[in-house]
Amino acid sequence: MSDQDVINVINLCYLVAAILFIWGMAQLRRPSTARVGNRVAAVGMLIAVVATLFDREIVSYEWIIGGIVVGGIVGAFLARKVQMTEMPEMVAVFNGFGGAASALLAGGELKRLYDTGGAIDSDVGVTIALGTTIGALTLTGSAVAAGKLHGTLSSNPILLPARNVLSALVAVATLALGALLIWATQDGGFSETSTLLLFAGLVVAALLLGILVSIPIGGADMPVLVALFNSYSGLAGAAAGFAIGNDVLIIAGALVGASGLILTSIMTKAMNRSVSNVMFGGFGQSGADVTSDGEARPYRTMTAEDVATMLAYAQSVVFVTGYGLAVAQAQHDLKALADILSKNGTEVRFGIHPVAGRMPGHMNVLLAEADVPYDQQLDLDDANRQLENTEIAMVIGANDVVNPQAHSNPSSPIYGMPIIDVDKAQSVVVMKRSMASGFSGIDNDLFYLDQTSMLFGDAKKSLKELVSEEDELIKKG
Ligand code: TAP
Repeated sequence: MSDQDVINVINLCYLVAAILFIWGMAQLRRPSTARVGNRVAAVGMLIAVVATLFDREIVSYEWIIGGIVVGGIVGAFLARKVQMTEMPEMVAVFNGFGGAASALLAGGELKRLYDTGGAIDSDVGVTIALGTTIGALTLTGSAVAAGKLHGTLSSNPILLPARNVLSALVAVATLALGALLIWATQDGGFSETSTLLLFAGLVVAALLLGILVSIPIGGADMPVLVALFNSYSGLAGAAAGFAIGNDVLIIAGALVGASGLILTSIMTKAMNRSVSNVMFGGFGQSGADVTSDGEARPYRTMTAEDVATMLAYAQSVVFVTGYGLAVAQAQHDLKALADILSKNGTEVRFGIHPVAGRMPGHMNVLLAEADVPYDQQLDLDDANRQLENTEIAMVIGANDVVNPQAHSNPSSPIYGMPIIDVDKAQSVVVMKRSMASGFSGIDNDLFYLDQTSMLFGDAKKSLKELVSEEDELIKKG
């Protein structure tokens, strides 16, 4: 086969891979086809990787094979070990590594072009500078996001003195070093060593910028930040793809960049925030005005037996789940309870908040795992419509996403965030272990309403109790 034939076959494979990426992504729109979509896109990636390995410009396979073996082992180990609730950190780490890979690729291409003595086109210089800058700031920014989500770093905004001036200075330095690097690659009279030093300076400035833009952002806004860095990692990949002239990297990078931006927009809408608000707002810091004033407020408790009796006579129930259900891994027990109630003639629905849990679609994934029928799942708006005519709203391990402060307290950090209005139901039962606050660290007014009762305990344990109590009651008739 001639070199041109090989290039043609590789390009054909890239085209097939690109079609599979797009088709796979389209399947992700519905939970019922999401698994297939994931596999289709993974096959596309396999085709792209294998085709790239046939590229005749590859000088040595040792490093590539070494990378595949080490990366494969680490990836397989993490995929087995990481808990579902740690997924957002994992995604943040992946984004960071994606950014780092693009920056390394841009640097490698710069060195290669010097080594081969080839002229550097102006667009290549620009894309090397862009891939390096976006990739490096994505690495450190994502590392900060992962640290905040994991609890290694404080989830409160870290506000350095004169942070705006400092960030502006580093941003200007990054832009200046990027512009100098582009000029250096266009025969601006710089030696190879000076150009590589400029590249190193740009990497350091961008790494610093990534830290400075993410540390002032509060933990509650991490979903938006992770989605934004997801988009950046794609843009860095696309820029690196332009630098090395690899079509499939450009396409995959553009898809990740665009889908990350769409996800960012969905997340900001779900939290009633804007991207600029997130980046410069210092949200997530719980102030004295939003926490409980220390005065004990009365609330009502119930036993599993009481709740089971209430449920046995209910016409309609809406379950609203949150992070606690995920931690307790109680989705199958919830499904068992829902099945018993449905058989008993109760209309059962599940209200799903888009940011319940710790990752986008967290509740959809959990409920799909438990085989909850899709026609029983309601999105936020449908759930709110349905709740007005619902007898019992059962809140299981959810807190912030059902906190009426989002409507009533303008000084609350969650003010304006759309919530599931469980307080519209005739009765509310909240299942959690204590009166402790949720992710945003604020008290929940729902717990103190007249129609609300608390059922304390681990969600899995309480649901198992409810299932056995309900069984008993129904058997007794
Ligand atoms: P949260 O507000 O975090 O509340 C979860 C509640 O679950 C806690 O109050 C906790 O109370 C309870 N819980 C914990 N372990 C439990 C267990 N084993 N059994 C029963 N209950 C348990 O959760 P949410 O309502 O799902 O809201 C999500 C929050 O996370 C929002 O503020 C959102 O912005 C934020 N966030 C979301 C994402 C995405 S993308 N979904 C990512 C990062 C952050 P006890 O300790 O009293 O049991």
